[in-house]
Amino acid sequence: MNKLQHRRVLLGVTGGVAAYKAAEVLRLCQSLGAEVRVVMTPAATEFIAPLTFQALSGLPVHTQLLDAEQEAGMGHINLARWADVILVAPASADFIARLAAGMANDLLTTILLATEKTIMLAPAMNRAMFEDPKTQQNLSKLAAQGVLVLGPDEGLQACGEIGFGRMLQPESLLQSIVEHFSSGELAGLKVLLNAGPTQEAIDPVRFITNHSSGKMGFALAQACADAGAQVTLVAGPVHLPTPSGVERIDVISASDMAEAVLPRAQQADIFIATAAVADYTPAVVSDNKLKKNASGMQLNLIKTTDIISTVTQQKGRPFCVGFAAETDALETYAKGKLIDKSLDMIAANWVGQKDSGFNSDLNALSVYWQNGEQLLDSKSKPELARELISLIATRYHEKNTT
Ligand code: PMT
Repeated sequence: MNKLQHRRVLLGVTGGVAAYKAAEVLRLCQSLGAEVRVVMTPAATEFIAPLTFQALSGLPVHTQLLDAEQEAGMGHINLARWADVILVAPASADFIARLAAGMANDLLTTILLATEKTIMLAPAMNRAMFEDPKTQQNLSKLAAQGVLVLGPDEGLQACGEIGFGRMLQPESLLQSIVEHFSSGELAGLKVLLNAGPTQEAIDPVRFITNHSSGKMGFALAQACADAGAQVTLVAGPVHLPTPSGVERIDVISASDMAEAVLPRAQQADIFIATAAVADYTPAVVSDNKLKKNASGMQLNLIKTTDIISTVTQQKGRPFCVGFAAETDALETYAKGKLIDKSLDMIAANWVGQKDSGFNSDLNALSVYWQNGEQLLDSKSKPELARELISLIATRYHEKNTT
């Protein structure tokens, strides 16, 4: 399973004998679907050549803080923002000391000072250096700031001594990254989502549809799976790979989507309706291709089933989260839909604008519920999905413990 699909891991390598094992960490992360970029300290390049990491990752390795070319492309601030998680493996005693002191005297320490993402350190050093009170104080200080210290392991060291100081094996480090992304906020819950557009046939060659790509709904399905839920995704006609660990049901029309969603909603704990379901469908679908005529054409449309409103009327209904796609008066319309459709939450987004809503890779959401709201700023749909799922999990657990 691609447990790290769409995850961006920044691998920091510092100077130590264990630096060669970082190549295996990179390979293992990639094998689970992660995108990996490598930053090396100057000392690390004495132990292993940047070319090794470049060949494995297929990307340039970052080594210099003051590199005009790099800063114009992926500079230190961009690298800090790019990463979902930063793992420093191996983390030498010197590097740990500089980090604890808040120094920014090479590219890696500068990135770590600039990031707001989770930092993981895999210390690797001689036993006595690890046990030294100064190293212990540095690690305690970093741990108190939220840095995750992984290991070290006990055993025979490269220097011939036996004790704590060996870097954890690459498989253990990989496991820590996977666990970090499996937040568990929805562990044990069944989540049903719908996503994408629907297609309403006019005749065998024509249909009515909209611009939904499915990106938002698919990102949410992945975020739910990562949060530990058992996920079913009812997808309209889109060209996207199935998120890992998700059961997918493909449908075409609004009535197919209603048929797939309604019975499954009764088994779900949470229903998230991201799909842009057609509100109207042709009253009659012609068996043959409709012929052109000189005077124009009139289509008779009838209303489709409002899927989420039907789910909210079910006995033992799940916690229901709707979406609102608006071109004006976003808050007013979204709050109206929250009430009219008896939703627990609604996530509203602008459509018909650049960098949000339909088909964009970015989106921003204004989320409303009874007596509360939260704005989620513009970011990539996978990142936004993780934030929304965290908010949904909080609201769901609040509702179910009161
Ligand atoms: O797929 P992307 O390209 O990533 O774009 C994402 C998105 C813009 C489609 C998504 O973020 C979004 O806004 N989805 C809801 C689109 C929509 O139909 O909004 P609405 O305001 O018309 O509907 C309100 C709610 O009722 C929605 O949860 C919708 O799924 C639901 N509905 C609508 C009609 C219908 N017949 N049945 C429904 O369940």
